[in-house]
Amino acid sequence: MDKDGVALEAWEKLGFGFVEVGTVTALPQLGNPKPRLFRFPELGALINRMGFNNNGARSLAQRMEALQNSGKRPGIPIGINIGKSRVIPLESAHSDYLESFRLLYQHGDYIVLNVSSPNTPGLRDLQHVESLAKILGTLRDWEGGNASKPLLLKIAPDLAPKEITDIASLCEKEQLAGIIATNTTLDHSALRSNHHDEIGGLSGRPLQEKSTAVIRQLRDVTHLPIVGCGGIFSSANANEKFQAGANLVQIYTGFIYRGPALIREICSGLPYSCCGNSLTQ
Ligand SMILES: Cc1cc2nc3c(=O)[nH]c(=O)nc-3n(C[C@H](O)[C@H](O)[C@H](O)COP(=O)(O)O)c2cc1C
Repeated sequence: MDKDGVALEAWEKLGFGFVEVGTVTALPQLGNPKPRLFRFPELGALINRMGFNNNGARSLAQRMEALQNSGKRPGIPIGINIGKSRVIPLESAHSDYLESFRLLYQHGDYIVLNVSSPNTPGLRDLQHVESLAKILGTLRDWEGGNASKPLLLKIAPDLAPKEITDIASLCEKEQLAGIIATNTTLDHSALRSNHHDEIGGLSGRPLQEKSTAVIRQLRDVTHLPIVGCGGIFSSANANEKFQAGANLVQIYTGFIYRGPALIREICSGLPYSCCGNSLTQ
């Protein structure tokens, strides 16, 4: 939710083990007209069509640099999530991602390629392996054979099993550091007739099972680290993601409804079986 990295010091103080800023795009953009974020408290859900409102990759790079120079960069890992600028055609997506990647490379402890937001027209088409291979190839070429920065891919929960398998094998081939599963869903069936619908991505409780199922499918086909995300409202929900094969978890909607208490609850509520690895120490 911290598109432009304005609250990095606060995230660490609230108890997060790592934080991901963005999505930022190469070109600054306003995002979609408001209203663009809708609450459904009785469902524990949100629908958003923010549309990557952000000040652009260059501005984030400057902020990160200033933070570093002031000695106030948090000690926790900071990931930077990059997306495609809305006005750039899909055919040129690879150069647009490269622009953000280049500007932010040295500032992120890891970089996330976001090809799964439903709110930038056509963005999810970039999950097709041919498009994805072109983008990943462009980034790897720029790195010039010494790929040192952990690069992760964030995927949608609405993919078919074959697509998940194909994406996982491409990620292995390109030696990605992991896969983030998942972004919001376009399946609004949980809203049923008594709730008004809105255009956008649905997150929170209605996404919980769906994102866990994607993690499970991924774990069947890859040994890459998986970051589980989608409908985590409790340490039990976080543990379901770990049981399904996730190595780390992220929260958004649960944090909106439960507030900062959820962070420490998740970090302290894991069963002993999860405490032997470095993720929880
Ligand atoms: C208001 C809002 C804005 C979001 N913006 C982004 C974004 O810019 N980039 C991104 O990768 N995911 C974005 N997401 C998706 C979340 O990071 C997360 O993947 C998804 O909401 C599922 O997790 P949750 O159920 O815990 O919210 C956004 C979600 C919400 C609710």
